[in-house]
Amino acid sequence: MVNTWNLYQAETCVVWSRFSSFIEVGGRTGLGYRDTAQDIMSVPHTNPGKVRQRIVELLRAQVGSGYGLHLFEPERFDPNRPATPKFKSPTVVPEPPVEQLIHGLEDTCSDDHLWLVPSVCQYIKETGDFQFFEEIIPFADGGEGTVYEHLKRALDFSAAQVGPTGICKGLRADWNDCLNLGGGESAMVSFLHYWALQAFIEAALFLGRRDDWEKYMALAEKVRQVCEEHLWDGEWYIRGITARGEKIGSKQNEEGKIHLESNALAVLSGAAAPERGRACMDAVDRYLFSEWGLHLLWPAYTKPNDEIGFVTRVYPGIKENGAIFSHPNPWAIIAECRLGRGNRAMRFYDALLPYNQNDRIEIREAEPYSYCQFIMGRDHTAFGRARHPWLTGSAGWMYTAATQWILGVRPSFTGLCIDPCIPEDWPEFHLTRKWRGATYHITVKNPDRIQKGVKVITLNGRPVTGEIPPQAAGGSYEVVAIMG
Ligand code: GLC
Repeated sequence: MVNTWNLYQAETCVVWSRFSSFIEVGGRTGLGYRDTAQDIMSVPHTNPGKVRQRIVELLRAQVGSGYGLHLFEPERFDPNRPATPKFKSPTVVPEPPVEQLIHGLEDTCSDDHLWLVPSVCQYIKETGDFQFFEEIIPFADGGEGTVYEHLKRALDFSAAQVGPTGICKGLRADWNDCLNLGGGESAMVSFLHYWALQAFIEAALFLGRRDDWEKYMALAEKVRQVCEEHLWDGEWYIRGITARGEKIGSKQNEEGKIHLESNALAVLSGAAAPERGRACMDAVDRYLFSEWGLHLLWPAYTKPNDEIGFVTRVYPGIKENGAIFSHPNPWAIIAECRLGRGNRAMRFYDALLPYNQNDRIEIREAEPYSYCQFIMGRDHTAFGRARHPWLTGSAGWMYTAATQWILGVRPSFTGLCIDPCIPEDWPEFHLTRKWRGATYHITVKNPDRIQKGVKVITLNGRPVTGEIPPQAAGGSYEVVAIMG
């Protein structure tokens, strides 16, 4: 599943994007900003050229104030596009001028641009193409800036778009397309903002941009404090606050008491204090886990409430209203890896794994090698029925969760980090990782049967402290890591 099918599906999402879907056909055309910005994160090692192309397309569709155009045709923002198309059909409707393609704040999603920051950093960590930070790329509405500047604008936009408590506004929607909070606030976006800030701070430090490093460290600390002050509900983090000040995803609510995204991202981002992180992920396990994976929320909404959004009008147990929405499942797996709980990370991974669900194919009704956008949740009579295979953000994220967090092999700007978080009954595992032209044959041994922690790493028999520095391209290297 990891080496073949999952990777194949992750690549398909980047190459085809969501253009070619029988499900979405007619519903949308163009690149979806947030989906593309996330999908690219998973495959810079297997398809760096395509990933780079997508990054450039996304950056050209970012406006100068920092947000991304939610759905856009990349060729319309390509400065090298020929003025007259090669073929001109008399039936083709004339294209609107580019200015008309730039939507204002009312159509802006609060999360789109933020995914870019970790994705661009991931591409550079993988390839070592550090010059890319300096490449000049135009903004969609005029002007231009370096890639580094584009990332700052994304972070600054979210810093400015906050509601009364200082949490990011939900705007048209956040990752959950059906949570339409407008001027209300989204916990998920503030945690995402914190995560993007962490990625940028690491880059600023690496590039020696001390002023930016200080400025964005201070901003991240402010975001963390606001989150801890306003979003903790006693046992888990809430999902947001409506424009009228009502909490969403609180134990005081009758419906939608607990949501997956805000809790998983609170921990994945590193914003949650450790004891709160453990408590909220325990709550996720208690209320959202099922044999088919983690539900997006519980209990499903049955009463329309436009303060919360369209999600309250979706049939209970389907899609955003309490299905097992696959895409954020791997965020929870990564969160558990950050907490060092490999047994649970693997249990979450195994539950969603299509291969494992094949024993119940007459219920699942979908191919056993493809992640699906969602699986009907327990509030639906067809609990366990999977829908929308192939084009789903879960493909890239599950691949990232498995390889970079459970197996724990992650590139940084300066080295390869070996930080597995595995079930305690795994005695050892092997993997081969190609990175910046060199091949690493990695063996991880677990003599004490623990879930996380590495005490010794050797490279070709010689001890290494911390990460493995990049080795000469073309060579093969033996890495042994002993957990303990
Ligand atoms: C669909 C969209 C994606 C969104 C998700 C949750 O998969 O493509 O952009 O995040 O639904 O609403």
